[in-house]
Amino acid sequence: MSSAENKSFYLTTPIYYVNDAPHIGHAYTTVAGDVLTRWHRQRGESVWFLTGTDEHGQKVMNTAAQNGVSPQDWCDRLVEAEWKPNWSHLNIANDDFIRTTEPRHMVRVQAFMQDLKDKGFIYSGKYEGPYCIGCEEFKLPGDLIEGSCRIHSRPVEMVSEENWFFKLSEFVPALIERYRSNPGACEPESARNEVLAFLEGGVSDLSISRSTFDWGIPVPWDTNQVIYVWFDALLNYATAVGLMDDPNSQGGKKFANTWPADVHLVGKDILRFHAVIWPAMLMAAGLDVPRKVFAHGWLLVGGEKMSKSKLTGIAPKDITDHFGVDAFRYYFLRAIPFGTDGSFSWEDMSARYTSELANDFGNLASRLTAMIEKYCGGVIPAVSDGAGLVEYLEKTVPAADAAICALDFQGGINAIMDFCKRVNGYVTEQEPWVLAKDPANKAALDAVLYNTAESIRALAVLLHSVMPATTEILWASLGADVTLGPIGEQTIAKVAEWGQLPAGSKVTKGAVLFPRLEEKAL
Ligand code: MSP
Repeated sequence: MSSAENKSFYLTTPIYYVNDAPHIGHAYTTVAGDVLTRWHRQRGESVWFLTGTDEHGQKVMNTAAQNGVSPQDWCDRLVEAEWKPNWSHLNIANDDFIRTTEPRHMVRVQAFMQDLKDKGFIYSGKYEGPYCIGCEEFKLPGDLIEGSCRIHSRPVEMVSEENWFFKLSEFVPALIERYRSNPGACEPESARNEVLAFLEGGVSDLSISRSTFDWGIPVPWDTNQVIYVWFDALLNYATAVGLMDDPNSQGGKKFANTWPADVHLVGKDILRFHAVIWPAMLMAAGLDVPRKVFAHGWLLVGGEKMSKSKLTGIAPKDITDHFGVDAFRYYFLRAIPFGTDGSFSWEDMSARYTSELANDFGNLASRLTAMIEKYCGGVIPAVSDGAGLVEYLEKTVPAADAAICALDFQGGINAIMDFCKRVNGYVTEQEPWVLAKDPANKAALDAVLYNTAESIRALAVLLHSVMPATTEILWASLGADVTLGPIGEQTIAKVAEWGQLPAGSKVTKGAVLFPRLEEKAL
């Protein structure tokens, strides 16, 4: 199947289990996806960004029972009261939100499964072995430590059931070949090596149905069984964009313009599902496999994966109440190389907030608007030549673009913040407050202020995907929303073009972008 020429850049997050409210580990993945898709939009690309919730399976069913409500009521409640509000709080601009209990998903999952059965990739058999409800995964002996799941540190349950099986093992040679010949298909390198080692170690067929509970999508030809929750969940990436629809229908056209996904963002704990089972399912159906699965690391607390089940979960609001939403979005991508584990520390976050956001970026902006108000009557002075800042900016933009497109968020943010430091250095060297003392220096003063304002214009555009709300405030205070149009429509390709802020446009002293933490804590 060939991709349409006008195909969108399609990025997905995992769909989250609704057994509990979101914590910062979930937010980490979704914010990364939001930053990357906003960046691609600013590159002028058509983009589709999907997130959602994983609602079937034993884990969600058990939680609902413990709370004395039906699984569907529980899911509805958590999605509406916790998950969706959390994403809007964090300013996530997803294009769609899929829930696996929606009919649009369930009918397509059944059609897909029937198709695989018709093609001869599904057979009936008996599964006997350990199962971790926390992972919703059939475990291998190596996944356990003294009978407990390595990830959840909880005993597994022994399952013995007649199930339907998917011929996963048939696709192992093709998967090995794919990851050997196409390193970009699974990143970072450590993740690809792990997947290759797993595949080379031999993979058995997969049980894809369960018969001992009923919270799931019925197997179309055997309604006493429900479809295994991961088989159901992985399909969300394709059902949400019209999988199995007639090519001439709206769904079919959407599918042609979207599939295959360009990036599936996942945490490293769910890499195997995405890099082994999922592409095998697609290969069996004769569909394109995703272009890239990228596995990021874990946020650690006390050296262990932060999780609600271990009572180490931190809600995003615990952090945003103190630091604000944009500092939250900035911090994790700036502090932790994407693909590596990182420890969350309140002290480190406070230190970076103060030095990088409040001092380097926020102060630069407030000094500039204050000086334009004081020395230039609140309007942008005559366009000036850039005094070396242009060349720096011209190097910054491609460096940031290459890094962010390669999911090296830290590298991209660093490149942008280095430019910010350079602009601060320029202001310090030029001492506009000294120039202002003598009217004979008016032209020199205007040049310094124009160059600084233009640099801040570029910084606002470059940091917009990471900190959308703050950069919008800054944009408005430069009068750029009136003179240049909405910030989200400013393209990366044009950002280094010098002289965009027109002379004479009105600048207003905006609110402090990153208030001092003591003041915020009040
Ligand atoms: N429902 C499955 C995914 C199905 S996708 C077809 C699931 N859900 S989850 O809610 O348990 O986890 C979702 C994502 O959150 C995973 O990518 C996981 O790695 C991520 N995180 C959960 N805890 C995390 C940290 N402590 N740190 C970083 N990310 C972590 O798995």
